This record gives sequence, C-alpha cells and structure tokens, in this order.
Amino acid sequence: MAETDFARKLTLKLQSTRKHSGVPLKILRYKQVLSTNTTAYHLGEKGFEEWTVVVADRQTQGRGRFGHRWESPKGGLWFSILLKPAISESRLPILQFFAANAVRQSLKDETGLTVLLRWPNDLVLHTGKIGGILVEAKTILERPSFAVIGVGLNINLTKRQMPTGGTSTLVETRKRFNLQKLLQRTVDRMMSRYGHLDNPVDITNEWWQNCIHRPYTVEIASQGRTITGITRGLEENGALIVESGDREMTRVTEGTLRLVA
Ligand code: BTN
Repeated sequence: MAETDFARKLTLKLQSTRKHSGVPLKILRYKQVLSTNTTAYHLGEKGFEEWTVVVADRQTQGRGRFGHRWESPKGGLWFSILLKPAISESRLPILQFFAANAVRQSLKDETGLTVLLRWPNDLVLHTGKIGGILVEAKTILERPSFAVIGVGLNINLTKRQMPTGGTSTLVETRKRFNLQKLLQRTVDRMMSRYGHLDNPVDITNEWWQNCIHRPYTVEIASQGRTITGITRGLEENGALIVESGDREMTRVTEGTLRLVA
C-alpha cells in the first residue's frame, strides 16, 4: 500500500488551502505517517503542486541524513514541503541552506531562542541539536522534477524524549509552543525568500553569518577520513571550506562535523 493511502487510513486528515502572494499553499495534516518526506515524495510523483506541505503529529520511520533514524514522537514539529525549483541538479545543495535560514529565523522569532546553524544541516543551540533538515529530490535528465524539504524540530518534547546530544524548546524554556503557528511562520518565511535561489550567495552569506563555527576549529568525519582545521566559509555548492594547519584549503562536500574545543 502506498504510504499516502496508509496515512489516510490511519488518520483523520484535515486539509487547508490558502494563497500567499498569489501562490497556493496546501497543508495536509496527518496524525501519523512513516515519514513526511516519503509522503511528500509520493505526492510529488503524483504531480501535486509546489508548496504542498505534509505535516504529521508523529512519524514511525522518520529519517535523517545517511538514513539514520529520526525519533519523531508527538510534540515535535515534523513536516515536509514539496517544491519545484527551477535550478539544475548541481545546485540542489543550496536548498538545505535556504531552508535552514528560514527555519532558524522563524524558530528564533517564535521562541526567542538564539538558534544557530551547524554544517551541513543542523539547527543547534549552545546546549545541543534542536532540529535538522533533510532534502530529497527526484531528478530526470539532470533537471530536478521536484524536491522535498523535510524539517524536524524538537519543540514540546521532554528531556527523556531527546536523543543524546539533542535538546528541545521545552527543555530550554519550560514553555510549550504552538506548532501550527511555528509551521505557518516557517513556510511564510520560505515563500518570501524563495526568489533568493537565484542569488545563492545571499543564501550562503546569511547561513555563514548565523553559523556556530564561524570560524572555529572542527573535525569532520568524511568518507572514511577525518579532516581537522578551521572553518573559513561556505561555497554556493554547499561545500564547507576548511583551512588545515599548513594553510591548505579543503572543500568538504559531505560529512559529520564536530566542534573542537
Ligand atoms: C538530520 O538532522 O539528519 C535531518 C533530520 C530531518 C528530519 C525531518 S522530520 C520531517 C522529515 N521527515 C523525515 O523522515 N525526515 C525529515
């Protein structure tokens, strides 16, 4: 059974549609899905419109980078946005930085917390990781036919519900936040900044300004090796520039970054 049918059977689905500057926005709500990214991907394949948003109370098979499990109990904000950006396949990495900027700002505005970014796709506080972004795309002949931006935010979750190294807005502030308002604010922000995809340097500059390792000594585990050095910037293709001891600049395109004290 396709996941969309599965989700429909399991949940009472509400659907809201409205327009934002003439662009239709459709929000599909589910009580439970395997993964909002998977549901949104299916919808992309079925030809659903850009700015279709899938949001679920909980995910049973939420996933992060490298296929890692992403714990998604009720209380967090788990959603995916279907987009059809007019960019080439090689420019797809910019989407995760575009999304990170929008999510960071809206989370900060809604909660008052100073949210920062960690390469490549983390939203962090000084006390731990508060959210992550997972972009998946379908490409035909080097042209993306659609992309799915998945966002996971630890909001009304207790310390016991957090994975190691994670934190939540509830843990940090002892306050509960309205998930619907936060979702709306985030999508609005993305919509208003969508045109920046034509100016990737605006996106990478904003990302770098709000980065927790700007500049900082880091260790990056990447493709079986460890790169140690000082972060120097972010390129438009998503590569992190790292200066090692001998002043050599390395461009790292994937990996897991750790701050070195
Ligand atoms: C990461 O930090 O590795 C990325 C985590 C992304 C999690 C979100 S939750 C909504 C969407 N659905 C998923 O299965 N994953 C993303």
